Amino acid sequence: MSNNKPMIIAHRGAKGMAPENTLGAFQLGLDQGCEGIELDIHLTADGEIVVCHDLTLDRTTNGKGRIVEKKLSEIKTLDAGSWFGDEYKGETIPTLNEVMDLVPDWIMINVEIKYAYEGQIEHKLLDLLKQRSRLNNVVISSFDHKCVRRIKLLEPEAKIGLLYQSNLLDPTAYARSFDVDVYSLHPYYQLLDAEDVQKATESGLYVYPYTANAESDLLRLTQIGVSGIITDYPGRLGALYQGRES
Ligand code: G3P
Ligand code: MG
Repeated sequence: MSNNKPMIIAHRGAKGMAPENTLGAFQLGLDQGCEGIELDIHLTADGEIVVCHDLTLDRTTNGKGRIVEKKLSEIKTLDAGSWFGDEYKGETIPTLNEVMDLVPDWIMINVEIKYAYEGQIEHKLLDLLKQRSRLNNVVISSFDHKCVRRIKLLEPEAKIGLLYQSNLLDPTAYARSFDVDVYSLHPYYQLLDAEDVQKATESGLYVYPYTANAESDLLRLTQIGVSGIITDYPGRLGALYQGRES
């Protein structure tokens, strides 16, 4: 059996056991031994970066409407925990700044840009990461590859990752076709095979598949040598590593 231990990356925090993208979910991920967290960002009407998956507030809070049309002060009045369970009542949508207050800087943060807001989010994000001296241990990913390319052009020290959900013929060749340096590939986990991983890692790319939860999938991904696994159950992946040792 492979002894490879890909980085444990908590998807939207420990999304399987806590309300996604809240401080409670990130804390639970840390408690369960994650080495990285993945989160999604949007811009508010007053230009703050907040952590939420959807464009709208409807699914994960007691509010309604588009995040970009609300000020941070209004968003902060909303409950982002009760929909998941009473014990999480009072959780709010955190700002990225608040997440960085919670998460120590040796934990990798994978910031996923959900929407570019005509390029505004790129400047705001880079300003914040520079101000917090976090550029070094943050990977900025998106399904919008033009957006992450712009990030890299704006800030050469930024680490950028390509999210994709289609079965690309040659993901490494695609990444290496960029005129900027790509740091990582973030493929949908079911589409990834050993050859893709080998070619990518030999080329110096990190490979962080999303979102694998079943033990059989976690095991397969460790065996094909990925760099990290984005999972809703970070504790499950940690237990799998411990099980190998005992
Ligand atoms: O970044 C990996 C994964 O989060 C991408 O999909 O929809 O869960 O944000 P989604
Ligand atoms: Mg995401």
